[in-house]
Amino acid sequence: MAIILGIESSCDETSAAICIDGKIHSNIIADQAIHAKYGGVVPELASRAHQQHIIPTVEEAIQQAKIHKNSIDAVAFTRGPGLLGSLLVGTSFAKAFALGRGIPLVAVNHMQAHILAHFIDEPKPAFPFLCLTVSGGHTQIVLVRDYFDMEIVGQTLDDAAGEAFDKTAKILGLPYPGGPLIDRHAREGDATRFAFPEPQISGFDFSFSGLKTSIMYFVQRETKANPDFVTNNLADICASVQERIVTILLNKLQKAASTFGIDQIAIAGGVSANSGLRDSLRAMGQQAGWSVFVPRFEYCTDNAAMIAIAGYHKFLAGQFESQDVAPLARWAP
Ligand code: KG4
Ligand code: ZN
Repeated sequence: MAIILGIESSCDETSAAICIDGKIHSNIIADQAIHAKYGGVVPELASRAHQQHIIPTVEEAIQQAKIHKNSIDAVAFTRGPGLLGSLLVGTSFAKAFALGRGIPLVAVNHMQAHILAHFIDEPKPAFPFLCLTVSGGHTQIVLVRDYFDMEIVGQTLDDAAGEAFDKTAKILGLPYPGGPLIDRHAREGDATRFAFPEPQISGFDFSFSGLKTSIMYFVQRETKANPDFVTNNLADICASVQERIVTILLNKLQKAASTFGIDQIAIAGGVSANSGLRDSLRAMGQQAGWSVFVPRFEYCTDNAAMIAIAGYHKFLAGQFESQDVAPLARWAP
């Protein structure tokens, strides 16, 4: 039997999970409401909040899994990418725990873990598969050949998809993080009402900064003519923006799938919680004859269950770190 404690602290969620023989027995997430009033994550505050949350979060994860801490076989932690101060809290905790109990340390790449969240529940994708990994900091199409054999075949040249959602929300006067709010308003709106441009980027790469600028000018222009424009048209604006972001993502994914001849298609990361993306991917998959893998909601945004499952597979492969391991703010898988 292998019991893995997973620790996630790359951004503004402190999370701990227990994985026993590849099954998740607890996944506790303490999010940090403090950032909302600043309109984004304040790194210094995030580190302090991690410091406060980490011990109670780990204790709750151990309790909920009904195990004793002496039975944990390894500690897996997010080494990066992420905010350095935030990563330091999780890394230091993991090192101390491993040192104190005399058990191995397993370093996990956060973006790989988002993808490996697909190995928590059935049905699991078969290798090789393509994963569109879309979060607040990354937008990637990844060719996944094995658990830790991943190649980024396309990525954003500027903003991430989550940033496009969050920045649009800011322009519309919605609080941070705006992605889930745009999703909610979009459900009531008409996606064909406003047209936003699709960037012409070659290959499988993405760009979202032009879209953000065009939304900003559009809102400025319309508000000048009618100060209540945003309030009166919020659902239609959200639906139209979401539709454009989703088509940008899925058009590239479709192109990659046909180029690589792969019909196992997954999405991962915070933006994979978006209902428009989930529905459109399922529809596209049905037409194209793909097997589509969409994570459970709780495994889309940042969580330690994905770190624990990734750690479990590294543990089985005997890939351990020494006590001098340092976090990496940037770390391509
Ligand atoms: O993976 P994640 O939790 O953190 C990072 O690793 O960045 O992703 C957070 C991002 C934020 O930009 C958030 O607005 C976005 O995921 N997000 C969504 C939705 N839920 C979270 N974007 C659109 N629709 C959603 N339902
Ligand atoms: Zn993430």
